[in-house]
Amino acid sequence: MKALITAGGKGTRLRPITHTRNKHLIPIANKPILHYAIEYVAEAGIRDVGIIVNADTEDVQKAMGDGSRWGLRIRYIPQQAPLGLAHCVKISEEFLGKEPFVFYLGDNMVVGGIRRFQEEFLARKSNCHLTLARVKDPERFGVPEIQGDRIVRIVEKPKVPASRYAVSGIYFYDSTIFEAVNAIKPSARGELEISDAHQYLLDHGRKVTFSEITGWWKDTGLPDDLLEANRLILDHIEANDPKDAAVDGESNIAGKVILMPGARIINSNIRGPAIIGARTVIENSYVGPYTAIAEDCLIRNSEVEFSIVLAHCAIRDIGIRIEGSLLGCDTTLERARAKPRTHRFVLGDQGMVEIA
Ligand code: G1P
Repeated sequence: MKALITAGGKGTRLRPITHTRNKHLIPIANKPILHYAIEYVAEAGIRDVGIIVNADTEDVQKAMGDGSRWGLRIRYIPQQAPLGLAHCVKISEEFLGKEPFVFYLGDNMVVGGIRRFQEEFLARKSNCHLTLARVKDPERFGVPEIQGDRIVRIVEKPKVPASRYAVSGIYFYDSTIFEAVNAIKPSARGELEISDAHQYLLDHGRKVTFSEITGWWKDTGLPDDLLEANRLILDHIEANDPKDAAVDGESNIAGKVILMPGARIINSNIRGPAIIGARTVIENSYVGPYTAIAEDCLIRNSEVEFSIVLAHCAIRDIGIRIEGSLLGCDTTLERARAKPRTHRFVLGDQGMVEIA
């Protein structure tokens, strides 16, 4: 079995973070989103992985390398324009050949891996095995209509959803999927829709089966999704033995906390689950649950909770707790020292500030 993972697109809904970084490389619990997909694929015994990338940059290639780190062989497949998920499958036909494969949207996060779904796909000898997750907002996704134990129809982003399920971005196929992606026509938004390919398989009497994702699943399309995914991943971490980190006698570490090498905690309270990156300094501060702070940050005389802070940020002397926030690399937040006491912002395009 092979794997095809998507890692292209512009991530427009995650701006400004995605102005300077591919969405799939944004860290969740201090690890790039794409690593989760790659690790699950490796764990499922798959060795040959194709990754769909934007044709105009090499950022993913630089970050992932040839895959040997995970015991994988990675082939990068450039997509010239964002022409849809079924188009990703179509341009990968030569790489995938006749082998069954998992098609994994690299921005989807799922707990517990993909083995269970892979086994079900193989045992049932399906042409296509989908994974469904119950969601609050099915109109954002591909939505199945289910009768008994069968999917009878799939509609992409329906105004009136026929069920409470989303078709998640982890799909299993045999080579009949190529008949579908080579036959369908672009949708109104100009893309070859994966839901249309699934509908084609249904219309042509192919065996389409499904599993329900009973744990959690998240498509990380919006900033709030990143915070939620971060929360869910941190819920599953184990505290480490912070032998390479320095915690002074005035500090208190409670709950599951990972301290990376060189982290320094000075007169501070860290309440897990949380992760503090390498060489980050937390001083006279509080870091609350569901916070991931990347490497080389400084947090001094401040309080941060339920947030993602990327590398090289500084937060100093902020009098009010920072919560539900996402700070891109090299961001500085500090209290003005001189009068007049004003709010002063230097924000990149599409930044967002909410003040209490
Ligand atoms: C895509 C698919 C949709 C699926 C979703 C899962 O949507 O088109 O059918 O439910 O991924 O993440 P998109 O994220 O491109 O809006």
